[in-house]
Amino acid sequence: METANRIVAEILVGVKERVQPGIETRELDELAEEMCRQQKVEPAFKGYRGYPRSICVSVNEEVVHGIPGARKIKAGDLVSLDFGVKYQGYYGDAAVTVAVGEVDSRARKLMETTETALYAGISQAKVGQHLTDISHAVQGVVEGAKFGVIREFVGHGIGRSLHEDPQIPNFGLPGRGPLLQAGMTLAIEPMTSMGAWQVRILQDGWTAVTQDGSYAAHFEHTVAVTENGPLILSRL
Ligand code: MF3
Ligand code: CO
Repeated sequence: METANRIVAEILVGVKERVQPGIETRELDELAEEMCRQQKVEPAFKGYRGYPRSICVSVNEEVVHGIPGARKIKAGDLVSLDFGVKYQGYYGDAAVTVAVGEVDSRARKLMETTETALYAGISQAKVGQHLTDISHAVQGVVEGAKFGVIREFVGHGIGRSLHEDPQIPNFGLPGRGPLLQAGMTLAIEPMTSMGAWQVRILQDGWTAVTQDGSYAAHFEHTVAVTENGPLILSRL
């Protein structure tokens, strides 16, 4: 899990550096693929339930599962990159939102708040806490800043499969669900919007966009619960 996630982080950093005005999102996918070949890992998303590419690139009102294509990135865009690999039977998964050039100040605030919410959730990923303590912490940060928490998509256990139990909502009452134990590996991934939380899926069958067209952000880490607290395996 450590190796898989270190490689995820390295590739995400490489892709993030290429997010600039003028680049087509499919070029970001090609770069991710090339880096997978170099590192001898399998991209985790390609072929997953028929997903056609190796990375998800979700721009502005796109929340998650944006399919790379001919769309060109431009200054002012808020670009979410979500990427995973399989290495020796184990999965890694992480996501980051990047601001391209000068972005709207509220969009920047959304991005910062979502990353803060991720870390608030991670800080609850320790022995003795309940699963939904993570959910509640994430929701508190996002809604405290008057942003929306996406309901339709959730974080997840991760290990020998990309998606394992338990599901990890980004909202809810604390103190529910299983007790966290050392050795659990969790993908914690707040997805947020500047407006309402409702989403719809585009005709491509994948791309989730906010119904109100407001900008969205997404940060994700794979985290191990240890006797010494949360260990972020996918740290960039
Ligand atoms: N990080 C996302 C998730 O955990 C990405 C998976 S989407 C797919 O659900 F492309 F793989 F389908
Ligand atoms: Co995930």
